[in-house]
Amino acid sequence: LDETEGVTLGTADKPGTRVKVLGRVHRSRTQKEVMFITLKDGYGQMQVVFGGQLIKTYAAMTLTLETSIEIKGQLRELPPKASAPLNRELHADYFRIIGAAAGDKEAITNKVQADGDNQTLLDQRHLVLRGDNASNVMKVRAAVLRAFRQAYLETRCLEVAPPSMVQTQVEGGATLFGFKYYDQEAYLTQSSQLYLETCLPSMGDVFCICPSFRAERSLTRRHLAEYMHIEAELDFITFDDLLSHLEHVICRVVDLILADPVTAAYVKDLNSKFQPPSRPFKRMKYADAIEWLNEHKIDFDDDELPEDDPQRKRPHRFGDDIAEAAERKMTDILNVPIFLTHFPAEIKAFYMSRDPADRRVTESVDVLMPNVGEIVGGSMRISDYDELMAAYKRVEIDATPYYWYTDQRKYGTSPHGGYGLGLERFLAWLCDRHTVRDCVLYPRFVNRCTP
Ligand code: 4AD
Ligand code: MG
Repeated sequence: LDETEGVTLGTADKPGTRVKVLGRVHRSRTQKEVMFITLKDGYGQMQVVFGGQLIKTYAAMTLTLETSIEIKGQLRELPPKASAPLNRELHADYFRIIGAAAGDKEAITNKVQADGDNQTLLDQRHLVLRGDNASNVMKVRAAVLRAFRQAYLETRCLEVAPPSMVQTQVEGGATLFGFKYYDQEAYLTQSSQLYLETCLPSMGDVFCICPSFRAERSLTRRHLAEYMHIEAELDFITFDDLLSHLEHVICRVVDLILADPVTAAYVKDLNSKFQPPSRPFKRMKYADAIEWLNEHKIDFDDDELPEDDPQRKRPHRFGDDIAEAAERKMTDILNVPIFLTHFPAEIKAFYMSRDPADRRVTESVDVLMPNVGEIVGGSMRISDYDELMAAYKRVEIDATPYYWYTDQRKYGTSPHGGYGLGLERFLAWLCDRHTVRDCVLYPRFVNRCTP
């Protein structure tokens, strides 16, 4: 009976002992009489050396990448400058193939999905996930979720779980996914905000981490049909409190990520230039952003007009939506996190309260990050009953199904506000990914619902 101790890769620290490892062949190279294998499991990698009789076996000569394998041997310590993981090398004296891998997809893993638009890589996402790049992003993602929960715990925000199947919209009818709910019409939620607001009176500040769904029509680097939405709602606050909270949570999450040596190493590997943002964040009002864009000759592109219409490109005017392309040019030039605030009411959602000092605009904020643009959308909410009724009317929403939301203004209203942050966009910023499609396990976007 062989009682060799089994060890996990990446954490093995038993030089000099005989160990057993289980994993998959990640890389291999043959040099004269020896074969070097990088074995990997979910926890790390180990360099394995096959020499002597082992290398002469048919199984070793025909070993393909991704083959799962059991190996036993002597674990040796290498000189400090060796390139092997943890400066350890396993000198194998026994191996057993558990599951051979068909060699036809060897080129798939470890592709950096640079355009995020490569249909083969998207179809083979299950294999792409076996590579270092894709799986390290997923490991950072898990750490970021832990860090947000920790940051909310520290700020006394309670986690709740609002429903995903709803009968009200939050962010406009154009991006609703509808479905048949028994004999009624229902939608997949666009945002849990309205539900979070109902928790404030008895649960205090709340947050949720739930998928949101948007039937976005356009193929962009930063739009998914299903994304992880981190939303928080805070009671009895001012707009300035909201901004300070956002700055605090974002910086705290980054600090927690970088304080963990394992996660920090993944971030460094994916985004070697990453610098934690410095506080306070730059603040810019929408009206000033419009001026800034015009000063920098970044035009408004009116996509309601035909491609060749000379009127299509023109300077920005107050009231224009700042499109993704213009926003990205701005963040690329400024290259720091920006609080873009005070958007005109006409281009924002119905629930946003107005700035008492300038009734044309709302107490709203988008957080823009270099390379991605908007990662957060937030605002103060209308807390007055009559004002909310007028807001429904302005956007032609039937108030009836919103009775439960309206009731918050009838039974002890309060100044309150909150925000939603797209986890995949946060990761695209943190890990320097070209597209949010690389920041989710299996991306869902226009016409893609597989694998
Ligand atoms: O700006 P949005 O639409 O705001 C809301 O949904 C608010 N109700 C949130 C709130 O106040 N509780 O979305 C918030 C964030 C965006 O800033 C973006 O990061 C992300 O959600 N997001 C998307 N991420 C990926 N794909 C999409 N299609 C997204 N739409 C929004
Ligand atoms: Mg938004």
